[in-house]
Amino acid sequence: MNPHHRTTRLFGSLLLTAAVGISCVGAAPARPAPGPPPPPTPLSQVIPAPASVDAGGSAYRINPGTTIRVDGGSRDVRRIGDYLADVLRPSTGYRLPVTAHGGGNTIRLKLTGKETGDAKGLGDEGYRLDSGSRGVTITARRPAGLFHGVQTLRQLLPAAVEKDTRQSGPWLIAGGTVEDSPRYAYRGAMLDVSRHFFTVDQVKRYIDQLSLYKVNKLHLHLSDDQGWRIAIDSWPRLATYGGSTQVGGGAGGYYTKDQYKEIVRYASSRYLEVVPEIDLPGHTNAALASYADLNCDGVAPPLYTGTAVGFSSLCVPKPLTYEFVDDVLRELAALTPGSTIHIGGDEAHSTSHADYVTFMNKVQPLVTKYGKSVMGWHQLTGATPVKGAIAQYWGYDATGAAERKQVVDAAKNGTKLVISPADRSYLDMKYTRDFPLGLSWAGLVEVQRSYDWDPGTYLAGAPADSILGVEAPLWTETLSTSANLEVMAFPKLPGIAELGWSPAATHDWDTYKVRLASQAPRWDALGIGYYRSPQVPWPTN
Ligand code: ACM
Repeated sequence: MNPHHRTTRLFGSLLLTAAVGISCVGAAPARPAPGPPPPPTPLSQVIPAPASVDAGGSAYRINPGTTIRVDGGSRDVRRIGDYLADVLRPSTGYRLPVTAHGGGNTIRLKLTGKETGDAKGLGDEGYRLDSGSRGVTITARRPAGLFHGVQTLRQLLPAAVEKDTRQSGPWLIAGGTVEDSPRYAYRGAMLDVSRHFFTVDQVKRYIDQLSLYKVNKLHLHLSDDQGWRIAIDSWPRLATYGGSTQVGGGAGGYYTKDQYKEIVRYASSRYLEVVPEIDLPGHTNAALASYADLNCDGVAPPLYTGTAVGFSSLCVPKPLTYEFVDDVLRELAALTPGSTIHIGGDEAHSTSHADYVTFMNKVQPLVTKYGKSVMGWHQLTGATPVKGAIAQYWGYDATGAAERKQVVDAAKNGTKLVISPADRSYLDMKYTRDFPLGLSWAGLVEVQRSYDWDPGTYLAGAPADSILGVEAPLWTETLSTSANLEVMAFPKLPGIAELGWSPAATHDWDTYKVRLASQAPRWDALGIGYYRSPQVPWPTN
């Protein structure tokens, strides 16, 4: 791969950023037309497409007497009931008490704990939604399944349900049954908080958007040349100095441990696991600038606010390097209830191959020592992935056969793969040549290109059971506000989420684009600005 492929572009004018908010976002929704209410949304019209739908029977109408029934005892179920009530109350104006009792006229959240009876075949994240004239029941084996079922329920209601002021309804849910569980266990989104820093509230906003589409991993890219974003007590200057700027020279920032824990907690309340990444041994200028001793020559480089890649490397021969990495991984593991820590490993163009292999093979056991699984970008397969390692494939059409083969061979040897092709799933690739935000080193990626591929067959020769799932990374060299994130993520993110969740048999661009179009009023109601791709038949207001 060309080492300089993404070195060039410094984003021209931040003023263009504001222009995107005007030129690309959807128009405000129109008033409801007079006449009979529209029929309820068909059960199959959600994203990700459900695994199975059996439509029929009477719709349920949420009404002033509706209760949200949470079956006794479980705090998780009550919390999900409260979450659902928080979505429904402002727009419906109904009381919607969350209660352990109730007969008919309920939205019932039923947790079985075991995979028998109603919950047969649903696994850890699946759910069953039964809707009829007396109410709706969502059944799941685990809380995550109930939560995902609630997201389906949201999408079955009119988009106005997402508004935070009282709307007219009616609040109809079509009759029938949805049985749904994910194709893949790993359905991720990555946010680069290093090139530009994003606050806890901005990250929470993105988490809420991810959870709409049943994404279950938030990969946080916490360190890079331009900024170190997580407080590490044993090396405090990483955050206080290494985090003090960002691309373009702005103030940057970092998360205190308490703030980081709050992100992890919030993600967990939306059934997302945070996968933290410390990118090593390249992409480390912020660390090298913070501690002169980490450099082979003992001289700290200046902080960096450009967008080149591949120029920094930790000092592989120095013993201090491994004390540093051990400290960072120990403190990060202690902040990580999830199973996995990502150690980067991409674009180490200033590290010799021999040094790269030495480094990655010494560092992986430091992750497992703290009880976590290793994840790395697919260059990790050029070293010796430890047992249980996950390689994240970010190649694209231009990636050479030898590089692909190395990844496929590792998969045959037991390394699991998360697939995130740069010219398909990278949300920061420009839609069109003149799009004011994003990069184009992997090409232009419009909505159809982003959706129309199969993670199960993308990497020819990789065993089907090596594919853990998909991810949609969002790099932020050119993105500095939530509006910037959203106009890149929408409408491409829901497509990657669908590739991760829905059975391959449901995959069809022509029907997907219609489902995608029908999400637009929902984004309008939620204040999410999106790119009105000409490939999608958006509703005309
Ligand atoms: C990457 O895009 N450098 C993983």
